[in-house]
Amino acid sequence: MMPIPRSEITPEHIFLNRRRFMIGVGSAAGALALAACTAPIGSVSTGESAAASPDATSASLSLDGDLPAALAYGDPYASSTTDELGDSLNSFQEITNYNNFYEFTTNKQQVAQLAEQFEPYPWEVSVTGLVKNPQTFSLETLLTDFPQEERIYRLRCVEAWSMVIPWVGFPMSLLLDAVEPAAEAKYVKFTSVLRPEQMAGQRNSRFPWPYVEGLRLDEAMNPLAIFATGMYGKLLPKSNGAPIRAVIPWKYGFKSIKSIVKIEVTDIMPTSTWTNLAANEYGFYANVNPTVNHPRWSQGTERRIGESGRRNTLMFNGYGDEVADLYEGMDLQANY
Ligand code: MTE
Repeated sequence: MMPIPRSEITPEHIFLNRRRFMIGVGSAAGALALAACTAPIGSVSTGESAAASPDATSASLSLDGDLPAALAYGDPYASSTTDELGDSLNSFQEITNYNNFYEFTTNKQQVAQLAEQFEPYPWEVSVTGLVKNPQTFSLETLLTDFPQEERIYRLRCVEAWSMVIPWVGFPMSLLLDAVEPAAEAKYVKFTSVLRPEQMAGQRNSRFPWPYVEGLRLDEAMNPLAIFATGMYGKLLPKSNGAPIRAVIPWKYGFKSIKSIVKIEVTDIMPTSTWTNLAANEYGFYANVNPTVNHPRWSQGTERRIGESGRRNTLMFNGYGDEVADLYEGMDLQANY
């Protein structure tokens, strides 16, 4: 099959959402025209053409309706089989079945099953605090008002395992620009959803729910920091933090907070859930750093899921060129 230029490929979930949007405004002709100029991911791998049958997926288009059907449409898609270092992507199966999502369980292999009963649609994210233009964004708005793009990133968990994941999402900076941080703003605090009735792990009082994380404002504005709304060209699977999560690839995975409902811009350094639980083990910065060991294990090497041996961990998870200047002059042994 001829490769399709990246510019012509629209991730499946954006395609579905745009079509819903067009249908939502009552323009069947508009939906058809849009379908004709965007290649649905399904067509890449199956040869199907949604342009030829514009209503074929309309039952899947409502965000408050039948989204699981949208998830089942087409094959997982990524524009490349490797990251920029030449390392193979982990499979969709691996990425969705080995998860840290303590709201459901501490057992990585049981998250996917326990997350089935979670209902991520409809969804809203409020953005408040030291901003000139506080707003609450619906998921539809986040998907349609911000340009969605693929980002293939390594995810390095503090527990010393890693994966390569083809996310779909948009830069954090665009959302922050939209709310216009005030001059005194220094940090961004993120809060995950609190729904013990749907999240079995939240009925466990060992953890101070909801899950909270934070970044310095300039870290959040770095072009590598994204909000992921999808993965492998599909809507974000429940086990990976549906419907929207942070991905900060140069930091340990616990900073990449899932299922976000609240974002607050502040002048106070937020205390994250893990720092709150064990400040000597999990600092605010949590930059991937092979020279600073966890008190209970080495951070010098990692196990890539799907591989048998270990590989060396890279400073800033291999993203030093893009992010090292954020920490110029800082002692990274003390600010772990
Ligand atoms: N976000 C929430 N809300 N709850 C969690 O338990 N676990 C974190 C992070 N985000 C977590 C979370 C950890 S420790 C890691 S390594 C990554 O999610 C794992 O992301 P993945 O399951 O998509 O690979």
